[in-house]
Amino acid sequence: MTVDLVVDSAAEVLVGPEETALEDATLVVDEGVVVEIGPADEVRREYPPENADEFVNASGKAVIPGFVDAHTHALFAGDRSDEFEAKLQGRTYQEILAAGGGIHRTVEAVRAASRTTLVSNLLRELDVMLAHGTTTVEVKTGYGLDRETELLMLEVIAEADARHPIDVIPTFLGAHAVPEEMGADEYVEHLVADVIPAVADQGIARFNDVFCDEGAFTVEQSRRVLEAGLEYDLTPKIHAEELVHTGAARLAADLGAASADHLLQATEEDVEALFAAGVTPVLLPGTAFGLDATYPDAQRFLQLAREADAGPAPIAVASDFNPNCYSQSMGFATTLACVGTKLAPREAIVAATKGGANALDLPEAVGTLRAGAPADLAIVDAPSAVHVPYNFGVNTVATVVKDGEVVHG
Ligand code: NIG
Ligand code: FE
Repeated sequence: MTVDLVVDSAAEVLVGPEETALEDATLVVDEGVVVEIGPADEVRREYPPENADEFVNASGKAVIPGFVDAHTHALFAGDRSDEFEAKLQGRTYQEILAAGGGIHRTVEAVRAASRTTLVSNLLRELDVMLAHGTTTVEVKTGYGLDRETELLMLEVIAEADARHPIDVIPTFLGAHAVPEEMGADEYVEHLVADVIPAVADQGIARFNDVFCDEGAFTVEQSRRVLEAGLEYDLTPKIHAEELVHTGAARLAADLGAASADHLLQATEEDVEALFAAGVTPVLLPGTAFGLDATYPDAQRFLQLAREADAGPAPIAVASDFNPNCYSQSMGFATTLACVGTKLAPREAIVAATKGGANALDLPEAVGTLRAGAPADLAIVDAPSAVHVPYNFGVNTVATVVKDGEVVHG
């Protein structure tokens, strides 16, 4: 039978949605979808590689689902590398933000940037992510903090999605920081009355996120913003329990958010409430690494998920790529998820693929490599998936396939 692509004789294929791995496996793709996966000699008999339009010899290599990076702020302008230096000298994230740095500086740079610059900035980041094996990424706004720039950010995200092989999922994060020209309550009312209706009208954003934390928005303000979005079917997401414990995770559970992200300060009861409400916890170990903070205990999360019968891939690992957490690499996020949060290597990859898809409410098969799943995958230049987190600081991804096409390598 003629098919579009055969990825032949992989040393290992991590198929998901759990840590299931097949050895010496061949994967067949047609019309953008995985049509067969199984023992190499059997599959080759049914689908001779010479009949495939494209053939990739994966012998000695591992194949994993393409990374689904469920939390990024990848659209920005400017340079905040000096804040890296300041933090090394002892200044905290909150001090920098309160002094008009951090998010505020990026807001200034984004407001001053042209649409063309913003599109090319995002496309450049997407290229880096794709080369590191990411095939789906969520990108947040939140560096405009006014109606015009927030809407522009959403348009830029939509344009980059249309022009790049990576699927880009747009999230409105108007409540990322209180803009310097307004008080917090005044800004929240402005979001509710003027910005959220315009975002809904524009029709690009899928999620509505808030930064509920010290120096950003209170639980009450966050609830107001998220409930306003719900009226327009914008699904809530929350930056919760990152810098201090606020009760944001409980709010996520209350509102049935798609995800609650960060959770460095979350209590056991918070995590139980998230699983009981079907909210996916998203761990962002790169942020803990960058802030030199304590990592959450991911094994405890998995234990609570089992007790709650939360199903496969109950937690996500994402990059949080942003000017304060400057890594586009999901491979590095899995390293930190192992060493920092104590996931096993294949657990970390599942959290970075199927877990990410859960956090984005994507269709069931996304983030897996079973028959019927979208053919989004990364071929790793090493004999097992374990090498992805094991071999840190370099990119182990050699080839990337998106919707059945070789788009990198
Ligand atoms: O997820 N915590 C809030 N937002 C980002 C940081 C954004 C920034 O500093 O520019 C985060 O860590
Ligand atoms: Fe974030």
